[in-house]
Amino acid sequence: MAKKQVWVHSSHPRSPSYLFFSIVALSFLSLMALLIYKVDNFASQTKTIVGHNLKPTPWHIFPRKNFTDESLHTRAYKIIQCSYLTCRYAATDGAAQPSEENMEKRRGLVSSRSPPKCPNFFKFIYRDLEPWFKTRISIDIITQAKKHAAFRFVIVEGKLFVDLYYDCVQSRLMFTLWGILQLLKKYPGMVPDVDIMFDCMDKPSNRVKNGSLPLPLFRYCTTEAHLDIPFPDWSFWGWPEVNIQPWDEQFKKIKQGSQTQTWAKKIVHAYWKGNPDVESPIRMDLMQCNDTNLWGTEIIRQNWTEEAKAGYEHSKLSDQCNYRYKIYAEGYAWSVSLKYILSCGSLPLLISPKYEDFFSRGLVPKLNYWPISSVDLCHSIKFAVDWGNTNPSQAEAIGKRAQQLMGSISMDRVYDYMFHLMSQYAKLQDFKPVPPSSAQQVCEESLLCFADEKQKELLKRSAVTAVSSTPPCTLIRRPNPYFFNIWAEQKQKIIDNVRDMENRTNAAIT
Ligand SMILES: *[C@@H]1O[C@H](CO)[C@@H](O)[C@H](O)[C@H]1NC(C)=O
Ligand SMILES: *[C@@H]1O[C@H](CO)[C@@H](O)[C@H](O)[C@H]1NC(C)=O
Ligand SMILES: *[C@@H]1O[C@H](CO)[C@@H](O)[C@H](O)[C@H]1NC(C)=O
Ligand SMILES: *[C@@H]1O[C@H](CO)[C@@H](O)[C@H](O)[C@H]1NC(C)=O
Ligand SMILES: *[C@@H]1O[C@H](CO)[C@@H](O)[C@H](O)[C@H]1NC(C)=O
Repeated sequence: MAKKQVWVHSSHPRSPSYLFFSIVALSFLSLMALLIYKVDNFASQTKTIVGHNLKPTPWHIFPRKNFTDESLHTRAYKIIQCSYLTCRYAATDGAAQPSEENMEKRRGLVSSRSPPKCPNFFKFIYRDLEPWFKTRISIDIITQAKKHAAFRFVIVEGKLFVDLYYDCVQSRLMFTLWGILQLLKKYPGMVPDVDIMFDCMDKPSNRVKNGSLPLPLFRYCTTEAHLDIPFPDWSFWGWPEVNIQPWDEQFKKIKQGSQTQTWAKKIVHAYWKGNPDVESPIRMDLMQCNDTNLWGTEIIRQNWTEEAKAGYEHSKLSDQCNYRYKIYAEGYAWSVSLKYILSCGSLPLLISPKYEDFFSRGLVPKLNYWPISSVDLCHSIKFAVDWGNTNPSQAEAIGKRAQQLMGSISMDRVYDYMFHLMSQYAKLQDFKPVPPSSAQQVCEESLLCFADEKQKELLKRSAVTAVSSTPPCTLIRRPNPYFFNIWAEQKQKIIDNVRDMENRTNAAIT
């Protein structure tokens, strides 16, 4: 009895309210557990711009990213935070549509400064989009292009939405999206709504198929035989993995480096430094030419693993302009090194490039580069070196024009190219772009949220800091349909002429 009483007494705290709190606490804990489970689960399904939960592109396999440096929870938290919470609370930046009043102000500014004419190579925007001038671009054809794309981006009212399908190698995706965000910031309210499928890997894949409609697909390069639409590559905003700086800075440094030595003092050989182990037959062939006496050529193998360890002291691009001749050899496809080689002010020796990026169509043999044959490679380089050493002022002039061409492609022009390409593309869309339900908004803050320290530094240095005070350069009207054929024929004629000179010299020797 007494016991019971004790029990009754001691049970006093278990009043209904105690029970209530216990239940609430228990429910809360289970809810938390469920939430954590859900969050982890949710995070483990969320695809991110740095490659979480994405497989490498099946058409170009590369090592899958690990993310083992962070714990599961940290990772889950970061994914949720960066992917879903950041843009929502971000200050509305330049990406937002400007108010009517601001537009008025801008028009005032804009009219006070007239834009320059776009460089000549902007004409190729028309050639790249030519396959769709008649058929136009339907949502159906875009959906079909998905099988070749690593991601899709949709711009609606100045906001960027990204749907991820596969991971991109290194930090390409991050830097490419950063470039698009900067464009939106530079020209607020001017970039039209677009829906674009993009592959971030190197090789063009898009050929005309018999009977089927061509698929619109953006990437960093194309060829004469492909329909891929070239877009400025990530390295214009920096390439952290190989220590390449944002383009405007990098060009300035290379140009300064090139001026430390007069033409007369530059080494009279052809020079190539790079990574030959990229499944590039032409780079393998080039290794055979490494003989200054026989071929006037010096080849240096670059090991990026070792360079990274040594703090990139020996791979500075600005220290590589001391030679009169600089060789460009394509890698697995086009190579970002082209722009740095052309910037040196040396005579660029281009080994018959197969791939084109957005600006390389502006190159003209003997005007701003020297064409090298891939067939009899070492002989062809030797011939160019001998020609240059016999005609130093002509060789120097070609090198100067190459450097001037690269100087004319400032970041302003890179943004203008993106702007005009996207505007012309948008005109061909026969539908109103809507972000797919699986797409996420990407804004500056959400992108920086995923960036590591080194990436952050380059991203900040390459950021657009103010709305442009001039409108984009003026795009000339669409040239007549024969223009591009004539252009290609003229180029080929000059190249044949050089081959002919080589042949006659070789014939005279043997
Ligand atoms: C991922 O981790 C494995 C094992 O820790 C390692 O062998 C591999 O090189 C890593 N891959 C990358 C891309 O870092
Ligand atoms: C391409 O299409 C044409 C006409 O439809 C047909 O005659 C030709 O055989 C096709 N070629 C191939 C390679 O399928
Ligand atoms: C080319 O030759 C030079 C001098 O003989 C040598 O230092 C260099 O390692 C060679 N390059 C390659 C890729 O073998
Ligand atoms: C590059 O250097 C690293 C580290 O020194 C080495 O393990 C690797 O085998 C080298 N790669 C080549 C292709 O020589
Ligand atoms: C130069 O010679 C090569 C091989 O001897 C030949 O294939 C090529 O057609 C020649 N080119 C010109 C322009 O004469």
